[in-house]
Amino acid sequence: ANKQVGIFVGSLRKESFNRKIANYIIENQPEGYDFRIIEIGELAMYNQDYDDSPSQPSNYSSFREEVKALDAVLFVTPEYNRSMPAVLKNAIDIASRPYGKSVWNGKPGGVISSSIGAIGGFGSNHHLRQSLVFVNVLTLAQPEMYIGNVGDSFDDKGKLTNEDTAKYLKKFLEAYINWVELINAKK
Ligand code: FNR
Repeated sequence: ANKQVGIFVGSLRKESFNRKIANYIIENQPEGYDFRIIEIGELAMYNQDYDDSPSQPSNYSSFREEVKALDAVLFVTPEYNRSMPAVLKNAIDIASRPYGKSVWNGKPGGVISSSIGAIGGFGSNHHLRQSLVFVNVLTLAQPEMYIGNVGDSFDDKGKLTNEDTAKYLKKFLEAYINWVELINAKK
């Protein structure tokens, strides 16, 4: 069976560059893998009271099940005020609870950040990595993937036209797949 990879996009914007990057990855995914976006925009803000309550938002359990079934996770995110967007942190928090039942534990992962600015979402990338350490997502270290000036990478129709970005993504994905294979072989 194909390995299942969930992509978590840190932007809900319709014309999101990060979603375009995620879609580009899906269109160019390696053989033997199914990459798909796991939607996180409809998840209500996490409240710890929900952990012991039958009245928790109805999509929490299906979201946790969906994450649990994945062979690997991949985060593609912008930077909001030098950190990860709240929608992404919310998704991480929800799937990390109830205590002891985190569905992130031990999954191989990767982080791509992008920005319309020059720094490529460095702050977001590393704040995200900090949380991933704690929930024990085993995150690929190298190559790091910061896409700066991302607005210049796509044309008006949302097609990736920057060859350097395409090359960089290809190199990243090769390393990511090797990493996923390595981690999952040890399980
Ligand atoms: C931003 N943006 C931004 N960019 C950056 O490089 N560092 C930052 O700290 C921020 N902060 C920030 C906060 C908020 C609330 C918004 C809405 C935006 C700009 C950001 O890079 C730009 O909007 C991207 O286009 C967002 O990614 P998507 O939506 O295109 O995927």
